[in-house]
Amino acid sequence: MRKIAVFASGTGTNFDAIQASIEKGQLDASIELVVVDKLDAKVIEKAKAKQIDTFVFNPKEYASKNDYERVIVEECKRRGVEWIVLAGYMRILADALLEAYPNHIVNIHPSLLPAFKGKDAIGQAFNYGVKIMGVSIHYVNAEMDGGKIIAQRCFDVVDGMTHDEAEAKIHAIEHQLYPETLKKLLEEK
Ligand code: GAR
Repeated sequence: MRKIAVFASGTGTNFDAIQASIEKGQLDASIELVVVDKLDAKVIEKAKAKQIDTFVFNPKEYASKNDYERVIVEECKRRGVEWIVLAGYMRILADALLEAYPNHIVNIHPSLLPAFKGKDAIGQAFNYGVKIMGVSIHYVNAEMDGGKIIAQRCFDVVDGMTHDEAEAKIHAIEHQLYPETLKKLLEEK
């Protein structure tokens, strides 16, 4: 059983999907900690409802990114966390985390990378008028949505598809692909 930490900034539907996969016995892991950088994020209540520890912080209260990351590393290490799973965590990582968890930090992004990095990737793809959209899971490095790609899944953008419909499709793919990919990774390494 692998100990993981999930990092999120918002709703936490990917947190839900990962936790559900663990509860169904499909993913042999345990979420030891949920790290959140927004004091009012919905994911906080979701984690608490599952009796999972949370570390909620305000980045503005720290002098630097490495300063708060050092605290996060300490919180993760003392719980024996082996893997860091970014699930809607909207911050670029610094050395403190990258050096503490080499090749053990993954992220999910709602585009076919390297296209449409950063915020509102679905909106960016939609505005561009692409005919294929998708989801990427990748190792995390110091670049925004950078790092080696681990898995991708795509779908056709059908004529007349709205932004909301595309977003719903992206989320449905994410909620399958993230637990599936984590299962492979955690079993391999
Ligand atoms: C997900 O769609 C994830 O791919 C995206 O944030 C959403 C979080 O949703 N991440 C990024 O854009 C990272 N650059 P959730 O809070 O419901 O899991």
